[in-house]
Amino acid sequence: MFPTALLTRKRRRPEVAFVGGREEVKFRDVRLFLVERRMGKSRRNFLSNLARSKGFCVDDALSGEVTQIVKAGLSAGALWLYASQDGFRETHDKHVLHISWFTESMSAGRPVPVEIRHYIQNPAVDQRSCTHPSAKPESAVSPYACQRRTTLDNHNKIFTDALEVLAENLELSGNQGPSLAFRKAASVLKSLPAALRRQEETQHLPCLGEHSRAIIEEISECGSSSRVEEILNDERYRTMKLFSSVFGVGPKTAENWFCRGLRTFEQVLSEPSVRLNRMQTAGFLFYEDISKPVSRTEASALKIIVEEAVICVNPSATVSITGGFRRGKEFGHDVDFIIKTPEAGQEDVILPAVIKRFKSQNILLYSDLQESTFDLRKLPTHCFDAMDHFGKCFLIMKLKHEQEMDARAGKDWKAVRVDLVAPPLERFTYALLGWTGSTLFLRDLRRFARLERGKLLDNHALYDKATNTFLPANTEEDIFAHLGLEYIEPWQRNA
Ligand code: CTP
Ligand code: MN
Ligand code: MN
Repeated sequence: MFPTALLTRKRRRPEVAFVGGREEVKFRDVRLFLVERRMGKSRRNFLSNLARSKGFCVDDALSGEVTQIVKAGLSAGALWLYASQDGFRETHDKHVLHISWFTESMSAGRPVPVEIRHYIQNPAVDQRSCTHPSAKPESAVSPYACQRRTTLDNHNKIFTDALEVLAENLELSGNQGPSLAFRKAASVLKSLPAALRRQEETQHLPCLGEHSRAIIEEISECGSSSRVEEILNDERYRTMKLFSSVFGVGPKTAENWFCRGLRTFEQVLSEPSVRLNRMQTAGFLFYEDISKPVSRTEASALKIIVEEAVICVNPSATVSITGGFRRGKEFGHDVDFIIKTPEAGQEDVILPAVIKRFKSQNILLYSDLQESTFDLRKLPTHCFDAMDHFGKCFLIMKLKHEQEMDARAGKDWKAVRVDLVAPPLERFTYALLGWTGSTLFLRDLRRFARLERGKLLDNHALYDKATNTFLPANTEEDIFAHLGLEYIEPWQRNA
């Protein structure tokens, strides 16, 4: 027998009875037990119900009849210690498995064959003398960002900052492909639990090309990279970066201005042949404010203002922060909000009404409303880098200062960039996932869905090419489960 109390939470709450009738058991040879520790009660319940709905037998308590113990997280020392103290031995039909086996089985709709990489290694087993597959080392870092947990704790900032300068420099010259290689390399390093100490540690890492490795090596040895220093001092790079920091100015416009010999904002603004569009005009007008980072406190203050307007227009609508702040960032370049409307069609009227209200409150400095072009019949779409078709608006809003005001300017507010999106209710989860980002995380999630699972994911839907069906999702967890991926929390999506 297993010491159940040690494997589940120490202080056990009363067992929650599963609602709904008993699902039909399709796979009689497997009996699952999910270890609650590190997984959490609600996630365990969610996954247990998911498995039952797919015909798996899941036990709430660990007994001798259990054939697969499934555990989240990688460290398995304690689990193995307790299990083996009680004489637990893996046999050909009893396994302690990493949750990847579970998620893959859920995605396949049947128990997938147990492979070496699914085993949770018993750390006490001497690897040299053991022939059991569980003695294999833990799987390496995944080349897909959606299979890595990337928090804001970046232990390799000296390397990632440098790689991102190289990426940015290429982006500003229109070389998106090569730029992405550096972005991916930086992203892999961001996911590491500790700083790289030796060059050899990069050997087993994915997405690190020759070029990225050379930069890392140079920084490890000299403290900086000569190529990066060169870029940072390059007039073209500096000017392009300055120009494209203006709201509404992309790499093309920035390059155009640079090629015409312009180097400063003063020169741009006094050049008669330069015609600024409405967005760029606002960008220059509020540059001082909107080039400063927005703090979490400011984002929360804005949420109250947005919520108040939304509820005034539609009392049953709700507002959530998305984008970088949902991923736990302390500062952002803007604040992103997603609006949820419970009645069909409401999503189309809410944004114009909210904008109207902001105008009447005299807190709107700029607005660009893009009405919905969403059409269910045009799904699934195959162009993934395109923006979504939901109604959205890009705003610059006045945020009143809490205390002291800018006496010199007689100005008691700060201009802040705000994005709002209002998807139809049944599209909400996909839109929330897409707008939470990060861009690289979502890019890899879509690539993974397509290449590894034959499914198409975008901000509107998840489509299964094998069955030609759309897969429903009420929560982000549903989407990860459909893709056979471990759930990654928003704060772990900072890839
Ligand atoms: N996004 C999107 N469709 C849009 C606009 C944005 O799917 N029409 C997504 C972006 O891909 C990103 C997220 O929304 O994943 C937030 O975008 P953005 O505000 O640009 O980036 P943040 O991650 O929030 O970074 P920051 O804190 O600098 O704002
Ligand atoms: Mn943002
Ligand atoms: Mn945004």
